[in-house]
Amino acid sequence: MPEAGAAPIGVFDSGVGGLSVLAEIARLLPNESLLYVADCGHIPYGEKSPEFIRERCRAVAQFFREQGAKAMVLACNTATVAAVADLRERYPEWPLVGMEPAVKPAAAATRSGVVGVLATTGTLQSAKFAALLDRFANDVRVITQPCPGLVELIEAGDLSSPVLRELLQGYVDPLLAAGCDTLILGCTHYPFLKPLLAEMIPPSVALIDTGAAVARQLKRLLLERELLAAGPAQPAQFWTSASPEHLRNILPLLWSSSDNVRSFER
Ligand code: DGL
Repeated sequence: MPEAGAAPIGVFDSGVGGLSVLAEIARLLPNESLLYVADCGHIPYGEKSPEFIRERCRAVAQFFREQGAKAMVLACNTATVAAVADLRERYPEWPLVGMEPAVKPAAAATRSGVVGVLATTGTLQSAKFAALLDRFANDVRVITQPCPGLVELIEAGDLSSPVLRELLQGYVDPLLAAGCDTLILGCTHYPFLKPLLAEMIPPSVALIDTGAAVARQLKRLLLERELLAAGPAQPAQFWTSASPEHLRNILPLLWSSSDNVRSFER
């Protein structure tokens, strides 16, 4: 019988954005074997209904459980607001980590008292996000900025074209003009734009994302349940609901090269 800790961890996003979280998990927990599902066939989740996203998350959770995953990470802010409560109800004993925009740390960090949030429409319109603001942002001004179009470009492997640059600039400029000194990257795709963002914002403006915090939370949960792997880790395995060939082509840009890409057909 293999020890329970040797089981893999399932990491899920609507597309390649969750690879920014996968990288943090791999850094903090190098002994863990990782499975990654990208629902690229249904991107972007930011413009989909919560009911649709919940159904997709159920299908992926079911798949991870069939693969023997000991835990699941919803490496997607939009999927978390739509589905984390539903999955917790279905699998109360299964360690599940979701993610939300880093409002709390941003409210603590800002000196200007103005914080900007870049995220998907789905995340920004959710009741869960409103509750997050109520809880942690009473003493600061929060300006939200939905960013349609960014996810699709990143999915195509574009991190720096003139089109992307112009779109991003249009989202960031109003936040800077309003006096934001802290920008929350509230979608797991956006950390891949950090190099480009660094060219657009003054050095005094901080960028905050939650990938590393999610990895730490995952470690805490596994430690509590004595589920940490002793290693060595198996190579990460990938599934996509769109073309495996496309994911294989852009993985070297966003993760590292991998032949372990299969089709996710559910
Ligand atoms: N990566 C997802 C997030 O963190 C959203 C991307 C999408 O719109 O599908 O919100």
